[in-house]
Amino acid sequence: MKKLLSASVMCADLLNIEKSVKELERAGIDLLHLDVMDGSFVPNITLGFDMINAIKGMTDIPLDVHMMVNTPAQFIDMMNLGKDDYLCIHYEGDIHAQRTLAKIKDKGIKAGLALNPQTPVNCYEHLVDYLDMALIMTVSPGFAGQKIFAGAKEKVAKTRAFLDSLGRPDIPIEVDGNISPANGAMLSKVGAEIFVLGTSSLFIKDKDMKESAESFRAIL
Ligand code: DX5
Ligand code: ZN
Repeated sequence: MKKLLSASVMCADLLNIEKSVKELERAGIDLLHLDVMDGSFVPNITLGFDMINAIKGMTDIPLDVHMMVNTPAQFIDMMNLGKDDYLCIHYEGDIHAQRTLAKIKDKGIKAGLALNPQTPVNCYEHLVDYLDMALIMTVSPGFAGQKIFAGAKEKVAKTRAFLDSLGRPDIPIEVDGNISPANGAMLSKVGAEIFVLGTSSLFIKDKDMKESAESFRAIL
């Protein structure tokens, strides 16, 4: 699979979102990473569904929605997502993850399952039939600008090996949190294929977004 860049829109200039999205299009970004937070699963609140649907309506870049919420199933129908979009729920936020993932797939949307740093990779074992993507959090979710957790590299490598052992080398691993060029290069070597770019690689004051995206892609 081609390595993909997914821009973390919560790090963009949200007061000029249309301008930000056009800049991301010009930068050649592959996915728009939209972080949804409910203030309970994580101690923060970010993009709402009106914003997500507005962004969906202003660009052809596929969406990569990251649901940092409890009981995500209740929100699926509030977003106008389609066959090219990813909708990713957290294992820790849904005691019925299998049912929720099945519902996402039944709607023709690509389904992802995210694991917080402390959650073991074998949580994927009984759900691989419902997965189009595995999201490995490289920080504890909730905020941009954090530092990658110790052991992130080993966890990504273990996830790749585990999914392959289940006969699913086709499931790409997305990494999210402090994905700087150096961390991106390190994680690419151990199997990461989708990179969430935020404050440590793309949204950097006075740096051209297109140049940042191109130089990131060059190190993969
Ligand atoms: C954090 C979000 C990330 C975050 C990435 O919970 O899931 O997408 O915005 O931002 P950086 O790259 O600055 O860590
Ligand atoms: Zn995210």
